[in-house]
Formats: sequence, C-alpha cells, structure tokens
Amino acid sequence: MSATGAGPRGRIASPTPAAIAEASALLRAGDIVGMPTETVYGLAADALDPAAVKKIFAAKGRPADHPLIVHLPSAEHLPQWAATIPKDVLALARAFWPGPLTLILKRTPEVPDEVTGGQDTVGLRVPAHPVALALLRAFDGGLAAPSANRFGRISPTTAAHVHEELGERVAMILDGGACEVGIESTILDFSRDVPEILRPGAIGPEDIARVIGRLPRVRGEAQPAVDETAAGQGRADLAGAGGKGAAPPAATDAAPRVSGALAAHYAPRTPLRLVEPALLVDEAVALAGEGSRVAVLAHSTSDPADARLTWRTLPAEPATYAQGLYASLRALDAVGADFILIEALPGGPGWRAVADRLGRAAVGSGSAEAGA
Ligand code: TXA
Ligand code: MG
Repeated sequence: MSATGAGPRGRIASPTPAAIAEASALLRAGDIVGMPTETVYGLAADALDPAAVKKIFAAKGRPADHPLIVHLPSAEHLPQWAATIPKDVLALARAFWPGPLTLILKRTPEVPDEVTGGQDTVGLRVPAHPVALALLRAFDGGLAAPSANRFGRISPTTAAHVHEELGERVAMILDGGACEVGIESTILDFSRDVPEILRPGAIGPEDIARVIGRLPRVRGEAQPAVDETAAGQGRADLAGAGGKGAAPPAATDAAPRVSGALAAHYAPRTPLRLVEPALLVDEAVALAGEGSRVAVLAHSTSDPADARLTWRTLPAEPATYAQGLYASLRALDAVGADFILIEALPGGPGWRAVADRLGRAAVGSGSAEAGA
C-alpha cells in the first residue's frame, strides 16, 4: 500500500499502522482526516497549515471566525503553542492529559489566525484515545480538530457517523470504535485572571479544584458562595447544575467566542422537548393519540410498550448516559418522528455536562438552520 491515496476518499479505515501512516501523510500533504478521540470524533488538519485549516471550515460549513482546538501528542509540545504556561496549567496537564480537558491559553505568534479565529488565545488538549495518540505521534505536531459534524448538528461518536456527516469531504476516517466519553471535552479558560469553564464536560469544576486548590467559574451559572477555606476541598455547592429542562446558558459578547456556547447547537432535525418523568408516558401517548409519530429518550421511566412509540432508554447514570447520548439522538432523529421527547434529567453536578447538551439540543432542534 502506498503512503497516500491508497483508497477512495471518505473511506473508513481500521487503524492499522499502515492506515495511521497514511493518515499522517495525508495531513502532511494538507488534507483533512476523521480522527477518533475519547470524547467525540474530530476532523483533523495540520494546525500550522492555514490552507488545510480552511478545509475544515469548508467541510463543516462552519463560520471561519470560530476557533479550533489544537490536539497535541503530549504536554511537552505546550511551549510551541502557549505563550505563558502557569504552574496550575502544568498541574492540570499532569492530572488530566491525555484526557477530556481543553485548556485555553495565550497563544504564541506561530499559531495561525485561522486556528484561533483571530483571538490571542488557543485551545489545547492531549486526547486519550490510542488511535488519536498514535496519529499525533506519527504526525509529530499539532492537529486542529473540531467535532467531525456539519456545523450545528449532533457530534459523531462513531466512524459511521463521521461518514454520514462528511462523506467524501474528508480524505479518510480512522475507525476507533465508539467514543468512550461521548460528549465533548471540558473547556477551561486559563487565559484570564480567573479560570472559567466555558463548556462543561466529563471533568467537572470539583475535579479541577482538587488540582489547583480553587473552584473555577462556570460560564452561565450562578457562582457558588465559596468559603475560601473550603476551596480545594471540592465541597462548594454549585448552583444551576441540574437538568429539569433548565435553559442553556446564553453566549456572552465580552468573553471568548465558543461555538458550543451558541444556544442552538448539537441539534437533531426533529423538534425536541424535555419532559418531566411523571408526565413522560402521558404526553407521549397523548401525542401519539393525535396521530403524531413520537420518539422518546428515557432513563428512569419504563417503556410502556406502546407500538406507536419509538422508545429508547439510557442508563440513569451520567457517564454512561453521556456515552450513549449522541448516538441515541441520531437514531431517534432518523426515525422521522414529529417529536422527540426527552425525559428531564435528575439535578446535581454529575449531570451538568449532559444537561448542557440537552438544553442546547432542545433550543436548536427542528430547524435546518440550527446552530447557524
Ligand atoms: O472533545 C472535544 O473537545 C472535541 C474533540 C474532537 O477533541 N472537539 C470539539 O471541537 O468539540 P469543537 O470545535 O466542536 O468545539 C471546540 C470549542 C468551540 O466551541 C470553540 O469555540 C472553542 O472550543 N474554542 C476553541 N478555541 C478557543 C479559544 N481560543 N477561546 C475560546 N474558545 C475556544
Ligand atoms: Mg462541535
């Protein structure tokens, strides 16, 4: 097999050493490649090649001023990308990399504007997926990679999803199986005075506090009344973390642009509503009675076995729920229902990241314009 062009564009390749070498060569040649990570699949390009990075925006249909995360083979690459590396950042990298934490830091002049959306900061992370790490090591540099979906749509968690979203727009897709985390990384802005979580993820504020000795802010949430002596013990109670149909946090103008911060994002085409557990079956059955086709995503309410309903159940535990969330939304979106009803989540900090994604999905659903 030759190093490049060994197969048709957009094909799904099992991650053999030859396929990883081929993907790396395609990236070196300025092409774009679908890459598994532990969170969601990414659409990768050489982060130092502005022309290659532009191909990402074209393939996704994403506005060019939205910054991308640069994926690194290890924390040792940080100095090439980050102009200042606070001690706490090194501690966080040591604690959570490889893993689902993106750090926003002041960038070096070398980082192209195409990657940062013209901002003076850059998002960096070392992903934990073995195939991503093998590709990054073979490539031996930074790979800019947003989630490998069309702009505003559901993030892909399998290679087949990436193919569905992007087809021949990508040179090839490395198949790393289903993503273990299932939702995008926690984004922690460390470029300003106070660390702030811009996008919640599997690594929560309490996890971060255990490493840096203080709780970061959480964008869009009321800040906890922190007893300074308690900071670092991870015992402050964060408000607003619950599901229960809470409205998603609004994007603010003053803060760095985060496309995931648009209210409408991660959205299925079918209109989606969050419904309290006690009302779920009644509402689904009532809609079906009116002749609507109804799809339901539950976690604690049992399937009433009504043939008119498409019913899916995810585990009532945040990490496994997150793992199955996007594949479930994608599957329910594909049945051509008139409505998707989602059982409202339990409250509590463990559900924060999933509640965030569902809130956005509800806002953006039912529109071809979602996220645009
Ligand atoms: O888990 C993930 O983070 C996945 C995998 C592929 O790594 N990537 C991902 O990328 O979710 P994307 O582009 O779909 O979302 C990245 C988010 C965007 O909302 C972007 O605006 C924000 O990160 N971001 C990137 N660089 C930033 C910066 N310098 N300042 C503020 N936000 C930034
Ligand atoms: Mg995305």
